[in-house]
Amino acid sequence: VVGITGASGSIYGFRLIEKLANGEVRIGVVATRAGMRVSDEELGEGRLGELKKFPNVSFWENDDFEAPFMSGSNAPEAVIVAPCSMGTLSAIAHGSSGNLLERVADVALKERKRLILMVRETPLNLIHLENMVKAARAGAEMLPAMPAFYHRPASIDDMVNFVVGKTLSLLGVEHRLFKEWKGRTD
Ligand SMILES: Cc1cc2nc3c(=O)[nH]c(=O)nc-3n(C[C@H](O)[C@H](O)[C@H](O)COP(=O)(O)O)c2cc1C
Repeated sequence: VVGITGASGSIYGFRLIEKLANGEVRIGVVATRAGMRVSDEELGEGRLGELKKFPNVSFWENDDFEAPFMSGSNAPEAVIVAPCSMGTLSAIAHGSSGNLLERVADVALKERKRLILMVRETPLNLIHLENMVKAARAGAEMLPAMPAFYHRPASIDDMVNFVVGKTLSLLGVEHRLFKEWKGRTD
């Protein structure tokens, strides 16, 4: 399951789904209301909906409490929230499970499945930091949306691909989105 929240960086979720959709895996997408608003702003109106063209991608309403992966007996292998707002991080860290995305993250933690949170905010206050520690202690993996520069990105696409590539690497999915740093060769 890939969740898209109202943090800046909808492109990360979009690109991640595109890359995963080229494989054999089934992907459920849950976008929050704010996630859809920010995505319309950043990617263009309705762009997220383009992902429906992939036969293995299904979209779920965030208030749909009858989605199959809502229950521990049908837990997904991995839940990735990309990007993850501080609001959704807080809800996950506190187990409030007030919508489908928060609930499926909760299910991932309780069923010991992967939960990767691509958090994005700057600067971070103490509450944000403590919520990250809380979620990490419960088993979530923090993958902040932090592009690097050692691979000399020439475009925004290169920077997006770096962060999405890191996510795929963490999931054990092969990719060629950026060249790994091999140390100095001279
Ligand atoms: C253009 C825009 C950019 C935003 N960027 C961030 C961000 O980077 N991180 C964050 O935590 N919230 C950000 N927000 C605020 C969240 O969208 C807001 O807190 C929202 O309630 C989060 O709800 P959600 O977690 O249900 O998606 C942004 C809002 C807007 C309109």
